[in-house]
Amino acid sequence: MPDTPVDALTEAQARTELERLAETLARANAAYFRNDAPVMDDAEYDALKARNAAIEARFPHLARADSPSVQVGAAPSEAFGKIRHARRMLSLANAFDAEDVAEFVQRIRRYLGLSDDTPLAFTSEPKIDGLSLSLRYENDRLIHAATRGDGETGEDVTANARTVDDIPETLEDAPAILEVRGEVYMSHADFAALNERQAEAGGKTFANPRNAAAGSLRQLDPEITRARPLRFFAYGWGELSEPLAATQYEALQRLGKLGFSVNPRTRRCGGLDDLLQTHAETETLRADLGHDIDGMVYKVDDLALQERLGFRSTTPRWAIAHKFSAETAWTRLEAIDIQVGRTGALSPVARLTPVTVGGVVVSNATLHNEDYIAGRDSKGAPIREGRDIRVGDRVEVYRAGDVIPKIRDVDLSARPADAVPYTFPETCPECGSPAVREEGDSVRRCTGGLICPAQAVERLKHFVSRAAFDIEGLGAKQVEAFWRDGWITKPSEIFTLKDRFGPGCARQVRNREGWGEKSADNLFAAIDTRRTIPLARVIFALGIRHVGESTAALLAGHYGSWAAFRDAMLKASSDGGTEWDNLLSIDGVGPVLAASLVASFQAEIDEIDALTANLTIEDAESRATDSPVAGKTLVFTGTLERMTRAEAKARAEALGAKVAGSVSAKTDLLIAGPGAGSKAKKAADLGVEVIDEDAWLTLIGAA
Ligand code: IVH
Repeated sequence: MPDTPVDALTEAQARTELERLAETLARANAAYFRNDAPVMDDAEYDALKARNAAIEARFPHLARADSPSVQVGAAPSEAFGKIRHARRMLSLANAFDAEDVAEFVQRIRRYLGLSDDTPLAFTSEPKIDGLSLSLRYENDRLIHAATRGDGETGEDVTANARTVDDIPETLEDAPAILEVRGEVYMSHADFAALNERQAEAGGKTFANPRNAAAGSLRQLDPEITRARPLRFFAYGWGELSEPLAATQYEALQRLGKLGFSVNPRTRRCGGLDDLLQTHAETETLRADLGHDIDGMVYKVDDLALQERLGFRSTTPRWAIAHKFSAETAWTRLEAIDIQVGRTGALSPVARLTPVTVGGVVVSNATLHNEDYIAGRDSKGAPIREGRDIRVGDRVEVYRAGDVIPKIRDVDLSARPADAVPYTFPETCPECGSPAVREEGDSVRRCTGGLICPAQAVERLKHFVSRAAFDIEGLGAKQVEAFWRDGWITKPSEIFTLKDRFGPGCARQVRNREGWGEKSADNLFAAIDTRRTIPLARVIFALGIRHVGESTAALLAGHYGSWAAFRDAMLKASSDGGTEWDNLLSIDGVGPVLAASLVASFQAEIDEIDALTANLTIEDAESRATDSPVAGKTLVFTGTLERMTRAEAKARAEALGAKVAGSVSAKTDLLIAGPGAGSKAKKAADLGVEVIDEDAWLTLIGAA
C-alpha cells in the first residue's frame, strides 16, 4: 500500500495509510529532534509528508488529530514560536567570596549616596540551578510561557509549561497583567529515576538535573514534558500592571499566596554579615536539599531602591549571585594541547583522564596561559606556591557554575619521575607563524591574522554564534565544513554564497554531506532573514578584540547608526583628535579597547565593507525615544545634591541620552551643580544650554 498511487486508494486503505504515515513521521521527528539521530534522510521525510498531504486532500474527513501536517516538523528553535519579552530577562553578576559581596553592598551604598549607618535590607534566596522561565498571566489566566532565549526573545513553551504541576493555570485576584519569573528544575531523585528509565528504553540520558530539566521543557510533544517531573520556583517578575508589594520579600510572599512555589529558604537580611551567614548555612545544607543550587542570590529588598538602581547592560545593579565554592576532583593530566582562538590567542587545554566533577564527566580543562602552567601569575608572583603543571601529573579539577572546568592544583608527591616542565610553543601550531607575547599581555598570540586557518575559522564561528548573526542551520560544525571546502572563507561570503553558486546552489549544498533539500532551502532562508540585523549584533559579530556583547551594545547606543559608527572608527586615530576623544568619552571605553577598534577597522575595512554591503543594519533603538532627552548628549558637572553622579548618569542613559565626560560642540545640555567650573564656562562659550539639578529633575519628571 505505501506504493499505491494516492488516486487509487480506497477509503479504508487511505485511513490505514494515514495512520502508518503519522506513526512513521512521529518516529522520524523524535529521532531527529529529540535524539539527534535521524532515521531517514530529508528527501524521504519530505516525500512521506507530501504523500500524507495528498491523501488528506483527497479524503479531508480522514485527517487525523495527530496528523503530521499539523505537527511541527522543523528544528526545535523554529518549532517553538518566539515570544518577545515585555521586559528583558537578564542574568546576574557573580560574587565568589565575601570580599566580592562586601564590594557589592558598598557599590550600592555609593550609587545611592547612602551613609554607612543608613539601614539597607536585602533578601537572600537560594540560587536554583535550572533554567529560567517567564509566565505571563492576563486577567488571572496563563497566557504564555517563554524561556529566556537571548534575553529579548525566548521560545514559546506554553503547552509544555501547562503540564508542570507547580505552574498554576489560573490565579485569583492577581494584577491584571502579571509576568512571573522563576526557575524550572528537576529534583535529584526524579533525575536519577528519569535517567534510569531512559537508559532502559535505550533513550538519551542526561548529564545533570539542569540539562534534564532543559531537555524536558523544550520538547515538541507536551505529553513528553508531562511525563517528566519538572518543578518551578518563582523568584521574580517581569511586566506588572500594578506593584505586587513594596519589598522583594513581601512580593515573593504575595506570589506564594497566589499559588506559586517560592523558596522556603528565602531570608530577609539586615546587611553583609547576615547575607554571609545565610550563605554559610545553606552551603552546609546543600547536599541534603534534594535539588541543585549553585549559590545564593542577594537582592535589595526595597523595590523603590531596586527601581533607582536599575540595570547595567545585562545585569541588575540591585542583585548578585554569590556562588558556592566549586566541587573538585583529582585526575591525571594526559596531554596539553594548544588551541588557537579567533584573536590568535594560544590557549593551553588540559586533556584529562575522564573524571566526574559535581555529576558531570570532565575530560578537558583550561590551563589559562603559559604563566599559569609555570606556576606564576601575570606579574611573576607564585601561584600554587610556585608548583608548575606537567604532563603526567595528578591534578585537581574544579567547575565553577557552568563555566569550562579549570585546574586548581597539582599533587607533587604523585609526579612521575620522568615528567618534564612544559615548554610553551613560540610558533602557532596551526599556521607556523611566530606566536608573540606583547608586554603586559598574559597571552601569546599567533601573528598570522586571517592567513591562520584557526583564526579564520574561529572568526566565522564567532560570526554565526548566537549573540552575533545566529544563523539557523549554520553552526560551528557547518561553518567548519564550508570553510574546509573553500565555500565560505570570511563572513561576507555567507551572504554571497547563493549568488556565487548560482541557481544550482541549493542543489550543490543539498549534495553536501549532512544536507538535504529541506535543510539547504532552510539555510538560504535563514541567511536571508539575517540580512536585516540590529547594529549591536553587527558590531559584536566583527569579533574585534575586547568587544564583547555589552561593549557592542554600548557602542551601538552611542553611535546610533552603522554609517556614524563606521565613519567615526575610520576617522578616530590613537594620536588623538575629536573622534578619538569622542570614543573615549563613552563610559566603559578605555584606550586599550579604543585602540583595538581603530586598528581592526584600519586593517579590515575592505572585508567589513564587503560584508555590510549585503546587509540592512538597523539603527540602535533607543529604549526610550519619547523622553525629552532621548538622543541628546549631556554632560554633568559640579556637585549633584539629590542623587549621586553615577545614578544621574544611569538615569539619563535609561532615558535614551548619551552622557559625555567633557563639553564640546556636540553637547546639547550641561547640568551644572554647585561648584561647576571650567565646563560651565566652556558651555557658555559654545552656547550650550546650562541647567541646574532641580531643572534637570523637572525635565525628566523626577522632581
Ligand atoms: S533573580 C535580573 N533569583 O540564575 C535577573 N535568579 O545566573 C534576576 N536563578 O537567570 C534573576 N535562582 O535563571 C534570581 N532566586 C533567584 C534565582 C535566580 C536561580 C537563575 C536565573 C537567572 C540566573 C542568573
